[in-house]
Amino acid sequence: MTKPLRKAVLPVAGLGTRFLPATKAMAKEMLPVVDKPLIHYAVEEARAAGIEQFCLVTGRGKTAIVEHFDIAFELEATLRGRGKQAELRMLREWQLPPGAMVTVRQQEPLGLGHAIWCARAFIGDDPFAILLPDDLILSETPCTMQLANAYYETGGCVVAVTEVPHEQTSRYGILDIASDDGRLVDVRGLVEKPKPEDAPSDLSIIGRYVMMPEIIPHLARLERGAGNEVQLTDAMAKLIGQVPFHGLRYEGRRFDCGDKIGFLEAQIAFALKRADMSDAVKAFLKTYCAELFG
Ligand code: G1P
Repeated sequence: MTKPLRKAVLPVAGLGTRFLPATKAMAKEMLPVVDKPLIHYAVEEARAAGIEQFCLVTGRGKTAIVEHFDIAFELEATLRGRGKQAELRMLREWQLPPGAMVTVRQQEPLGLGHAIWCARAFIGDDPFAILLPDDLILSETPCTMQLANAYYETGGCVVAVTEVPHEQTSRYGILDIASDDGRLVDVRGLVEKPKPEDAPSDLSIIGRYVMMPEIIPHLARLERGAGNEVQLTDAMAKLIGQVPFHGLRYEGRRFDCGDKIGFLEAQIAFALKRADMSDAVKAFLKTYCAELFG
């Protein structure tokens, strides 16, 4: 019997140096795509997959993220006073139930594996999702729900994967494939950020995982890997053979919002999906295209 997936860990302690100066005094996870912060998309996606309990792994300067998920009493009172019912409803619609979100602090930037290990008391003995808010995914079925469905099919760990250009393997966790049915991949091994010549495949992990609590003892060793950081990928590699381990080619388009170009592309793609904006966006895109390409 697979245990239901109800918990998610969201690492948000990163400094966001690629977005300076925007991220000097503001958490990178608060950067908006259209009108919602990145962290908001991640929490919405997780909720759509049945996640009920959230753990943010935060660091210094991340208070705004916690505020974002709190009730803004003064704001609501002002909106009520001004009769702004639609805005009030919108705020209330995505309000988390009391106690649904906790935070733990990653005191030192020792890597993604270390961040997840910091959430060990929250994880306890339960399966949990991991969402890296920098990775934004536009899809029919929310990506975490696709992973959850695969998890209920196979049990064990499921990670979202996609093919990347061979010369980019050194940016990602890469799968060593045992077998592949085109959708689900049976994983034999994992390597964090291999050079193209050392990469066992071009299938990379993106920032969505369903993980088993058995990962914690492996993380607890705090062994350093690529970039001298405690890597989640290295601890996951140790789980292979201990629990079922699959990669899922998810349906959807991923935007790397930790990168300026990826972030910009996400703005356009998400705005084009908005009924209230798509016509205006198409109109200005048409103008730019005409100017650029004649
Ligand atoms: C992390 C993981 C890597 C994964 C990537 C997806 O790397 O360590 O395995 O492929 O996220 O975005 P980071 O982007 O934090 O360097």
